Amino acid sequence: MSVLILGATSRIARELANRYAERGQAVFVAARDTDEAERIAADLRVRHGAQAVAGGFDATDFDGHAAFVDDVAAAVGPIDVAVVAFGDMGDGGDDVRRVIEVNFTGAASICEALAAHMAPRGTGCIIGISSVAGDRGRQSNYLYGSAKGGFTLYLQGLRNRLFKQGVHVMTVKLGFVDTRMTFGMETGIPIASPAQVSRAVVAAAERKVDAFYYPHFWRGIMTVIRAVPEKVFKRLSL
Ligand SMILES: NC(=O)c1ccc[n+]([C@@H]2O[C@H](COP(=O)([O-])OP(=O)(O)OC[C@H]3O[C@@H](n4cnc5c(N)ncnc54)[C@H](OP(=O)(O)O)[C@@H]3O)[C@@H](O)[C@H]2O)c1
Repeated sequence: MSVLILGATSRIARELANRYAERGQAVFVAARDTDEAERIAADLRVRHGAQAVAGGFDATDFDGHAAFVDDVAAAVGPIDVAVVAFGDMGDGGDDVRRVIEVNFTGAASICEALAAHMAPRGTGCIIGISSVAGDRGRQSNYLYGSAKGGFTLYLQGLRNRLFKQGVHVMTVKLGFVDTRMTFGMETGIPIASPAQVSRAVVAAAERKVDAFYYPHFWRGIMTVIRAVPEKVFKRLSL
């Protein structure tokens, strides 16, 4: 069994790579920073004695995605599980295009290439890391939120299509996780560790869960947030 981790330099992605490698699965870790990806693969090999291969991947290299999937399969065999873990929250500056291209277009593009790889084999699992930010547009992060919301919707449709072809698509809506992305944020809400996230994701994928929030209490929070009428919501400063 082989597992592809996209955006491998993220702490969440690294923990996921560890969870799969410790199960004896071959792992391909893909990231923009190929030197760091190689270090991560070397660590997986030493720590778990697993087959671990590193390679370059850029979410915005749309035209290269199909060939990239072929290269991964040539290196570690047909891909059984692929985790779309990359993301870009933006920096509040002039980054509209980049945030949409990484979180939505890039994510959808690589998922299409993965679907084309998995569907003919009638097996496989695509795990999309989305965000609670995609559940409702908020003034503080609506750019990232809209791209993640689009990705969540995309994954729904993909799941609907690929179910009939034996491929499982799982959506993970993360709340706050202790990573580079949330560094220095005052949240007032408990933050999950990347290791906790990785254990929850692997367990849910094994049970073929369609979609879930993590930490789980975010389901309740987002139910309340979504229920606030727009007339009231637009006056809030969330
Ligand atoms: N942390 C949270 O609270 C939280 C909440 C909800 C959802 N998420 C999601 O969880 C996932 C992991 O994020 P994280 O929290 O671990 O943050 P992170 O450390 O910032 O990780 C983001 C990852 O995306 C990669 N990336 C960015 N642009 C890319 C591109 N064009 N091509 C390929 N890779 C690219 C980064 O690579 P580089 O190292 O090269 O920059 C990095 O590996 C993301 O999808 C994020 O949206 C996180």
